Amino acid sequence: MLRIAQNKGEVPFYNLDCVEGARKHLKDGSVDLIVTDPPYGIGGGGLHKHYHRNEEFVVDGYIEVPEEEYGEFTLNWIREAERVLRPGGSLYIVSGYTHLLHILSALRETGLEEINHLIWKYSFGVYTKKKYVSSHYHILYYAKPGGERTFNTNCRFGATERNGGNGSLNYLDREDVWAIPREYKPGQKKNKNELPKELLKKIVQYSSDPGDLVCDFFLGGFSTAKVAIGLDRKACGFEKSREAFNHHLQETLKTKPGSLLAELRQPTQGSLSNQGERWTENQKADLVKRFDELRGERLNKKESISVLSKEMGRGYFSLLNALREAGR
Ligand SMILES: C[S@@+](CC[C@H](N)C(=O)[O-])C[C@H]1O[C@@H](n2cnc3c(N)ncnc32)[C@H](O)[C@@H]1O
Repeated sequence: MLRIAQNKGEVPFYNLDCVEGARKHLKDGSVDLIVTDPPYGIGGGGLHKHYHRNEEFVVDGYIEVPEEEYGEFTLNWIREAERVLRPGGSLYIVSGYTHLLHILSALRETGLEEINHLIWKYSFGVYTKKKYVSSHYHILYYAKPGGERTFNTNCRFGATERNGGNGSLNYLDREDVWAIPREYKPGQKKNKNELPKELLKKIVQYSSDPGDLVCDFFLGGFSTAKVAIGLDRKACGFEKSREAFNHHLQETLKTKPGSLLAELRQPTQGSLSNQGERWTENQKADLVKRFDELRGERLNKKESISVLSKEMGRGYFSLLNALREAGR
């Protein structure tokens, strides 16, 4: 057993089967967030055919699950994940389409609640002639009921930030289709299916706070753990393969707590001083009057609402709804 000292106490990584490891080492309700990417149950050749793997630089020792055992295997580890999550804690499972059915039916056997079914658009580089080309993963975002779920709505983009076409950056970032490219690490050894840092940063930022405990049941290249530590969270997890565990643990040990914080984009929070406040009749009347003025100055609807957002300290959708109610 190896224990790794982090800024907030000692947190373990275990070279063990995740169910066995969690039963031994994680208490009920002790984890804030689980982000994990289980084995696919399709064997090396199959993986290449479906998802185009270059195996040359892959660390040996990736452990697969026989296809016929995949359903039972999935139910066992998801039940364990449910046990260790705190009420309100979140679970993100990355899954290819091949065994999605097993994962969804296992989730339905638990008390976990579906929050989003995300699609991660990702180019595998497979070539097909007589069918469409695989270019997505599923990310199942669930939560344990009974407590407050962490979702940091404005952690990456402020509510008033707009792109060139005046679209809300915050809204776009929270759409449920994510286009995040894979990382090319030419000549470097990595785990099969290593998840991109950008994807993990996004999940960890939205669904946890500094100091929270983030767990990965299938550590592989320890990418979840490295990102969690880099964002000043605590990390723990399990990896059954001794080779993968020993190889990737060393790099993880070098990750400095908080070392990724400096590279995060700083959202502009704007001054929505009246966000969430009930509208008074006077304010509604002022809104309509000012909206008509702005439209009279040849600003389009979106532009007018942007100006009003700053002037009235309210969010875009709150203004849009109030204007709709007033027949504008
Ligand atoms: C898809 S990979 C994880 C990749 C990882 N997310 C990354 O970014 O590198 C799945 C990992 O689970 C490991 N594994 C397979 N069965 C396991 C089990 N029962 N318990 C723990 N780890 C297991 C495999 O050896 C493999 O490294």
